[in-house]
Amino acid sequence: MVIVYESKTGFTKRNAEMLAAKTGLNVFRVQELSKVSPNEEIIFLGWMKVGKIQGLAKVRKHKVVAVGGSGTAAIAEPSPEEVIARNKLEDVKFFYLRGGCFPLRELKGIDKIMLSLFIKMLKSRKDQDEKTKESISIIENGFDGVKEGNLEPVLTWLKAR
Ligand SMILES: Cc1cc2nc3c(=O)[nH]c(=O)nc-3n(C[C@H](O)[C@H](O)[C@H](O)COP(=O)(O)O)c2cc1C
Repeated sequence: MVIVYESKTGFTKRNAEMLAAKTGLNVFRVQELSKVSPNEEIIFLGWMKVGKIQGLAKVRKHKVVAVGGSGTAAIAEPSPEEVIARNKLEDVKFFYLRGGCFPLRELKGIDKIMLSLFIKMLKSRKDQDEKTKESISIIENGFDGVKEGNLEPVLTWLKAR
């Protein structure tokens, strides 16, 4: 088994490298997929963009046995069920692994535009609950949610296999 990941700003990469260090599994960027035998089982980690796990399509022809989606929320946003449905993960194990983000002012291009629109939408909500306020703060100020403890469910699942 190996770990393959897709990461744009580095948070998923850190999760993947931490998991590799904890398990002794080899780790590859999705661009290095040609180095992975098609018979090899893969744990794939990718960052989530509007609920879609980035890079997943590139590994679909391989033996993906588990997928970790990384986002900024405390629990998967959209819900784990929605992420599983949107990414067709019914037949593989899904984990949500918290990632992080840089402050909005440091982003560029389409990502900055998309998140600016998202934050505008959140701010326009009349009843701002704690979750909405946290989301606004995370996007505006940046956040680092990567920590070893988040890998526990993956490690437990691996041990039980
Ligand atoms: C345009 C855009 C859309 C995003 N959509 C989601 C999302 O639907 N759910 C979520 O939890 N995080 C979302 N995020 C946050 C990223 O998934 C998060 O920052 C991730 O940890 C980045 O990983 P990376 O550093 O490996 O690229 C979004 C970020 C951007 C820029």
